[in-house]
Amino acid sequence: MRFALILSLTAASLAAPTNFLDDAYDWSDELAEFYGKVSQFISTAKHTTRASAACDVSKISLPSYASGLTSPTGLKPIYVALGRGTQNYTCADSTSSTAPVAIGAVARLYNATCIAANYPSILESLPNLAYKIALPTNEGASLPPANLDLMGHHFFYDATTPEFNLNTTPDNQAGIVMSKKEGSIVAPSTAAAGEYGAVPWLYLTHTDGTVGDYKSVYRVDTAAGSPPKTCHKMPAAFQIQYSANYYFFGQ
Ligand SMILES: *[C@@H]1O[C@H](CO)[C@@H](O)[C@H](O)[C@H]1NC(C)=O
Ligand SMILES: *[C@@H]1O[C@H](CO)[C@@H](O)[C@H](O)[C@H]1NC(C)=O
Repeated sequence: MRFALILSLTAASLAAPTNFLDDAYDWSDELAEFYGKVSQFISTAKHTTRASAACDVSKISLPSYASGLTSPTGLKPIYVALGRGTQNYTCADSTSSTAPVAIGAVARLYNATCIAANYPSILESLPNLAYKIALPTNEGASLPPANLDLMGHHFFYDATTPEFNLNTTPDNQAGIVMSKKEGSIVAPSTAAAGEYGAVPWLYLTHTDGTVGDYKSVYRVDTAAGSPPKTCHKMPAAFQIQYSANYYFFGQ
């Protein structure tokens, strides 16, 4: 597992210019920082030989800034996903006296569990890059730059129910988390703002309809996704690109 991860990260860094830099990406300080971290990761990994320890979920913990949210006391980390998609908004008119209204989000979830267990600082940087990367046109394809596998889909079941559907293929049925928002903190200053700012970090708890042992979900390391402050010159409905890491906790 560890070696597969190293290979995929190495391959991603070598393949980067043709994979996504050309069309979706300008070389940036963030990207340079990311590849710096990947190099460190590869050199650290060379000195580690116990492949069986490569993906130990008990080592997963939330980033320290998440201490501003209710902590997952008594629960165990199950999975971590990098989310990439849009936050959707509507505007009742296009004047500066009206504010955009959030109507939900649509995102693909990519499996970042092993990176969370071993290289949390790499994981923390991923959303700041990923929000600018176009989703692969092939729905089932992995996401560069770390070649993460598709793990599920995030969308809104109804206006107040964020759903995380982790059933992707007949062989990969990891369940469903129906949730409700319980807490929120403003994103830290390190978050990539995009055009209008990063969406808040969230604490969500499971509700009826959840399939599996999931009890809570944290949206952290957010990048972009916020709407403009007012509806001035905005269309009736619009989407803002975003990315975030989602931590799934359970029993
Ligand atoms: C939200 O935006 C996505 C595009 O990311 C679109 O496919 C979806 O239909 C939109 N959902 C709503 C409720 O507007
Ligand atoms: C996520 O990746 C880990 C490690 O490869 C794997 O054990 C787990 O089944 C994956 N989870 C999902 C929901 O695909």
